[in-house]
Amino acid sequence: MIKRHIRLGINIDHVATLRNARGENYPEVVQAAKIVEKAGADLITVHVREDRRHINERDLGDILDIVNIPVNLEIAANPQMLDIAIKFKPKYICFVPEKRQEVTTEGGLDVIKNFVKLQKILKKLSNTDINTSIFIDPDKDQLIATHKLGVKTIEFHTGSYANAFIQKTNVQEELNKIIESASFAKELGLNCHAGHGLTFENVTPIASIKNIEELNIGHFIIANSIFEGLENSILKMREIISKALI
Ligand code: PXP
Repeated sequence: MIKRHIRLGINIDHVATLRNARGENYPEVVQAAKIVEKAGADLITVHVREDRRHINERDLGDILDIVNIPVNLEIAANPQMLDIAIKFKPKYICFVPEKRQEVTTEGGLDVIKNFVKLQKILKKLSNTDINTSIFIDPDKDQLIATHKLGVKTIEFHTGSYANAFIQKTNVQEELNKIIESASFAKELGLNCHAGHGLTFENVTPIASIKNIEELNIGHFIIANSIFEGLENSILKMREIISKALI
């Protein structure tokens, strides 16, 4: 039997967060990108936020110049950010919600509420080679709306599951939402990715969900790199994910 493979995207935003905290030119984002590629990750994920609090356009251009693995650009769904995607042409983009005051992406994009706006944006993307996904909560109505939009790939926001895991409450409930949504997504013919708040400890149940084809993991990997190095942290994550595959 051929073992299932899950693509692993490593989000290196927080290398830039550390650099920007002191306005220095280190740690270098491109150095991190090279290590991510060397460690065998399948893609590099970066989020160019509207306030440029971590990755900026120059980082994005440098990463695209230096690595051979695909780049997955996370952006807010608005014309300004879309122009960046069209200019830099990463292989993948993922539309995420964005609030200026939030510390991190707090939930999925509300596709129902933003349906018309997303339709306009997707129309502009239709004559490019960029593959689009949308970061959504594991919710049936959001999946139906995404399917209606014609988008083929979704990424489930796993933040509520990750928080439940820390608080040791409702873990199974949050996990079930993702399992059931992944199964419904499959019925709709959607490709499923997942990410947010994943760690060595909580990744196994998510990686075990059959329909999930890609995980994007950032903050924990970069944090753990302080103690174990970036390459080792990625290799260890890959090993844990690999053991979860059935
Ligand atoms: N996937 C998406 C769409 C994200 O926006 C993020 C960052 O918020 C991640 C994955 C990675 O999340 P984390 O840094 O918590 O691992």
